[in-house]
Amino acid sequence: MALLEIKKAGDPVLKEICKPIEKIDKRLRNFLDDMAETMYASEGVGIAAPQVGVAIRACVVDVDKKNRYDMINPVITFREGTVIDNEGCLSCPDLFGDVERAEKIRVEYISRFNKKKTLEAEGLLARCIQHELDHLDGKLFIDIATNITKGKKDKK
Ligand code: CO
Repeated sequence: MALLEIKKAGDPVLKEICKPIEKIDKRLRNFLDDMAETMYASEGVGIAAPQVGVAIRACVVDVDKKNRYDMINPVITFREGTVIDNEGCLSCPDLFGDVERAEKIRVEYISRFNKKKTLEAEGLLARCIQHELDHLDGKLFIDIATNITKGKKDKK
């Protein structure tokens, strides 16, 4: 495993529409492990592939340090309710802002072992997944947040 360099806002890779992943192999699993290690080392709760410079549709999410989800080609297929809460991002150090997100979601994705998965999520997990999926479409939370402040809090 290895720590990867986190790309910061302003890097063009963070604006790319990421490509779907076609081949799920050991190389990809190693990359997911490196993403996870990088995320934990930065005390983040989610990380998307473009944040480490690779414009492919993969992200890793772990909001409770117990349940890590490696998501390949994730798609949100259901959204319910809206909730506004404060967010940050590993690519936007020390910036926080309020973002309106769906309260509950259903997300379909492919696992690291090439299995189709469906996950229903709410709360912080739902928020984090929506944040990471935005990264796969070249969107940063600071583009949609209100009340942006500088300080230290949770990072995604
Ligand atoms: Co982020």
